[in-house]
Amino acid sequence: MSAPNKSYDPVEVEALKPEEIDAARDAALAAFEAAADLDALREAKIAHTGDRSPLALANREIGALPPQARAAAGKRVGQARGAVNKALAARQSALEAERDERVLVEEAVDVTLPYDRAPAGARHPLTTLSERIEDIFVAMGYEVAEGPELEAEWFNFDALNLDPDHPARSTHDTFFVADEQGSPDSGLVLRTHTSPVQIRSLLDREPPVYVVCPGRTYRTDELDATHTPVFGQVELLAVDEGLTMSDLKGTLDHMVVSLFGPGMRTRLRPNYFPFTEPSAEMDMVCFRCRGESVGNPDRPCRTCSSEGWIELGGCGVVNPRVLIACGVDPERYSGFAFGFGIERMLMFRHGVADMRDIIEGDVRFTRPFGSEI
Ligand code: PHE
Repeated sequence: MSAPNKSYDPVEVEALKPEEIDAARDAALAAFEAAADLDALREAKIAHTGDRSPLALANREIGALPPQARAAAGKRVGQARGAVNKALAARQSALEAERDERVLVEEAVDVTLPYDRAPAGARHPLTTLSERIEDIFVAMGYEVAEGPELEAEWFNFDALNLDPDHPARSTHDTFFVADEQGSPDSGLVLRTHTSPVQIRSLLDREPPVYVVCPGRTYRTDELDATHTPVFGQVELLAVDEGLTMSDLKGTLDHMVVSLFGPGMRTRLRPNYFPFTEPSAEMDMVCFRCRGESVGNPDRPCRTCSSEGWIELGGCGVVNPRVLIACGVDPERYSGFAFGFGIERMLMFRHGVADMRDIIEGDVRFTRPFGSEI
């Protein structure tokens, strides 16, 4: 900065000359106009309005002028700086608007493009239901046991007290499987129930044995609304000292309460299975009408045909002959077993009218069950 000009000198310093001020202003306006983007404008701003810009320097010279000259010079510089700032602001907002518009175009997302992400899958409701049932028993101390689907006849029938000429053997509509040589007497079948896993579990373990056996089973049934040749079963086996039919009943009641809610019960009807003695058919209270349709013609129930009960599966006290076949002492140990179909359970629990819907694999059926994984 120049030293104060004490003796009045009508000649102004170079930087404050009108031509210089105008030139500095015009240079600034031209530079702003020429700035093609916000970065260039930032540089032009520093050059033309920063501390070292000609107009800032000129402004600082004003203080050094004699008082008579300050007003005119101040006005000149002030007007120039005002014009420069105005032009800068205008160019700034023009370039910002331009950038925003470009970003909108360049970063636009076409929401109408086809969906290219594979939808997240979910497990089949049969699997999740089966696991839910397993969990009920695992929580009671049972172990999950599995066995092969291609099974030796001995495990599927003989060890379960179904000798080759046992009449009940023919009630299992069996898929017999030829061996590699093509012999039909291979002794292999597709298991008709999960009961052979009882045998495998008893042979593998020392009592006490508490196992829940889920798995796929096969029978030569035609596919219709209530039958399928491939279906799932869950079987339960408990072998310990002092087990009785009442343990079986308590366990069944606990299961239906866990699956269908409080107030559910089961009842047992005498039946015959070679591998249990006594044997029973197990029913549960109709989950839909809860028995209220019985004797109440105003409120008929299609699910249980107004009988109040639905049949679930078979059960009983393990036949001592089965224990003997597995090397378990029937004098010391006793047990109970039950088995039921998973598809039927799913139909009951979710009001599915046709078994074919469950197995056809159409996602429109499975999707409402959610995406439990
Ligand atoms: N295994 C029998 C069936 O599939 C069901 C059952 C299991 C019956 C256990 C009694 C005890 O028909």
